Amino acid sequence: MYLGLDLGTSGVKAMLIDDSQRIIGSASGALDVSRPHPGWSEQDPAEWVRATEQAIAGLKAAHPAALAAVRGIGLSGQMHGATLLDADDKVLRPCILWNDTRSFREAAALDADPQFRAVTGNIVFPGFTAPKLVWVRDNEPEIFARVRRVLLPKDYLRLWLTGEHISEMSDSAGTAWLDTANRRWSESLLSATGMEERQMPALVEGTDAAGTLRSELAAGWGISGDVVVAGGAGDNAASACGMGTVGEGHAFVSLGTSGVLFAANASYLPNPASAVHAFCHALPNTWHQMGVILSATDALNWYSGIAGRSAADLSTELGETLKAPGGVTFLPYLSGERTPHNDAAIRGAFAGLGHESSRVVLTQAVMEGVSFAIRDSLEALRAAGTTLSRVTAIGGGSRSRYWLKSIATALDLPVDLPADGDFGAAFGAARLGLIAATGADPVATCYAPKTAETIAPEAGLVPAYEEAYQRYRRLYPAIKGATT
Ligand code: XUL
Repeated sequence: MYLGLDLGTSGVKAMLIDDSQRIIGSASGALDVSRPHPGWSEQDPAEWVRATEQAIAGLKAAHPAALAAVRGIGLSGQMHGATLLDADDKVLRPCILWNDTRSFREAAALDADPQFRAVTGNIVFPGFTAPKLVWVRDNEPEIFARVRRVLLPKDYLRLWLTGEHISEMSDSAGTAWLDTANRRWSESLLSATGMEERQMPALVEGTDAAGTLRSELAAGWGISGDVVVAGGAGDNAASACGMGTVGEGHAFVSLGTSGVLFAANASYLPNPASAVHAFCHALPNTWHQMGVILSATDALNWYSGIAGRSAADLSTELGETLKAPGGVTFLPYLSGERTPHNDAAIRGAFAGLGHESSRVVLTQAVMEGVSFAIRDSLEALRAAGTTLSRVTAIGGGSRSRYWLKSIATALDLPVDLPADGDFGAAFGAARLGLIAATGADPVATCYAPKTAETIAPEAGLVPAYEEAYQRYRRLYPAIKGATT
């Protein structure tokens, strides 16, 4: 048996799988976010431990024998958070989370120093770890002076589980301190933020063993014998391990609140100018790119609030037959945009409205706008050397047939739908635990789920979609500066 632990922002999920990767059960523990000031987003690391204990207690109640048979654990976690520890491993202040934007000025200043993009392959985003430490240095100097170690959220859980200070490449690539091509800390980037390498955890690959479960915990969970804890992964890379997105040319598009186009790469392919994330993957000698759009299903949910109809009703009203884009274009920048614009100030727009622009016309435009935003991410990945021949769709938005056809046609790529199942970050983490405990081959272990169905691009509508995409592309520069 293997255990995956995914430390998310709203909860910890624990999942048990057996040797043949069958899911035995899962349980969770809830987490809250504290927002003491505008733009702040924090969590107390003690809460992560509490929520993990709650999730494990749930598994123990439902599957005591399976939990007692666990031999390997994999960790996944929300990325970028700054957990600050003193010389006795005591937490110095609440963890500053990935979606905390207080350090936007510090991030811009680091990003203006060319070595950050050159060495990390990424823009220094305000959510990343390094600018948070600069903020602490300048605003809480007495805390900064006592920082003996900085850990990412899931690596704090590892400290609790094993007593070790260890991280792995995929999560560390989101700190803005990693030399992403060479998979090691950059002394020079650390020193640009007043930090030293001795304050950072040791680095392993996500599939490597990185500690052994403490015997007191093992005993409490009913386990006798050693349990290996794998390096694990940041949550996006862990999900990719769950989805089998680990080999060159494999990609998924996730249609959640935000949207992600994630591609696995056999080499390091950065494109910071288009706000692509280029991170190490959880598997050795593998990297990944990620285009992120901030409003995906969020855009349809916003419109559903205005239209007074549920998103599902709007989708039903639109039908399943893909239409050529009309004259209305929607830009989904409701909370700014990451890829390709890296523009927090931009806001969305409807353009080309006429008397005939009915509710259903606008539903169509909203879905197309999100499809075009994902096409922007595809172009940003392509510009950095990625060639995709298909993508797998996941997330709530993939329940809409129309949206899937629209995405397939906007990308001009077939879109695969996985057979039902839970291929999320906890499952990917459990796979990493299995690999670290057994020495199984990483690529063979992280295979893709069966494809239930493939949605092909509507060949007859590809030219009309291309024309509408070009119109969409022209609108961003036209509204920039006019929407704020
Ligand atoms: C990735 C990112 C998020 C967090 C949330 O860059 O910011 O996906 O990892 O869990």
